[in-house]
Amino acid sequence: MERTFSHKIIKWYHLNKRELPWRNTKDPYKIWLSEIILQQTRVVQGMPYYVAFTEKYPSVTDLAQADEQSILKLWQGLGYYSRARNLHYTARMIVQNHKGIFPDTYSELIKLKGIGDYTAAAIASFAFDEIVPTVDGNVYRVLSRYFGIETPIDLPAAKKEFKNLAGELIDPLQPGIFNQAIMEFGALQCVPASPDCTSCTLNDSCVALQLKKTGILPVKHHTIKVKKRFFNYLILHTSDGQTVLQKREENDIWKHLYEFPLLESDRDWDENQIIEALPKMNLQAAYLSDIKLLHAHPIKHKLTHQEIQIKFWKIDYQNTLAQSISWQELTHFPFPIVIHNFIEKHKLGVSF
Ligand code: ADE
Repeated sequence: MERTFSHKIIKWYHLNKRELPWRNTKDPYKIWLSEIILQQTRVVQGMPYYVAFTEKYPSVTDLAQADEQSILKLWQGLGYYSRARNLHYTARMIVQNHKGIFPDTYSELIKLKGIGDYTAAAIASFAFDEIVPTVDGNVYRVLSRYFGIETPIDLPAAKKEFKNLAGELIDPLQPGIFNQAIMEFGALQCVPASPDCTSCTLNDSCVALQLKKTGILPVKHHTIKVKKRFFNYLILHTSDGQTVLQKREENDIWKHLYEFPLLESDRDWDENQIIEALPKMNLQAAYLSDIKLLHAHPIKHKLTHQEIQIKFWKIDYQNTLAQSISWQELTHFPFPIVIHNFIEKHKLGVSF
């Protein structure tokens, strides 16, 4: 079917592809690392992380032997931290259960934690030339436009339909190159907004272009709901010149990262509401000598499904506290980027 599609896409790829470090390797470990970094992350943003990780942990064994906190520290700023925790977990499984040798088939790869359909297909096709299609957002866009498919891509049925179609189009002699090519084509040519169809190699046979539907394809059923949350961080200054951090342990955003003691509320809180809530944090209002908001406006931090309004409160506390730490130690901990930026901006790690 449609040999011209894959021929044209592959030809286009050889002429237009970006030189990216993970494209010059067949090492499944490095391909895996790049794919996990690039989930939900743009190439320019992910690149320095890929370089840092492959330098610090050149093999899956090196990654398996690292401690989680060092991995999270190196991951700091990339977001979706469960990706880093799963990476570490799976590296250990590969060392323990597979003698450090990467599984080399789609069906073995997909059994690993953090490796779903897309990532298993990417590793299997890029590293081992298995004939399995990769279907990511780029592929949905290219195929829905080229073939004029109006199935909403966020319905469960869509995945099968697009995967079947990609499976018919894939070049069996170079499945990895075909997969890279169609994704690169989506990333560079068939872009989400205002694609330049006049320069497109597929413009004589693209259904969306003929029917003027590039603007409405791919179709999405649901728009995502965004939940609002309100975080109040207490930056404690104890009587012995220390502060307090805690590790996030719940199954929530930022699991295993560090933060200042947190009061979460369901709406915006003022100073009095913070003071009233201190006993919940095992802090006694009697020791409170001053409380001050450290910035003029709340900080808004947007995630895909959540919008977090953050306030940092400076609390002068006329007592010592268990498990407090010095200000100089702050920089050693992995933080959500919004807290890291706050620490840097206010030079909390140096000036106290
Ligand atoms: N995004 C996800 N995987 C990618 C890859 N291998 N190359 C470029 N961008 C990507």
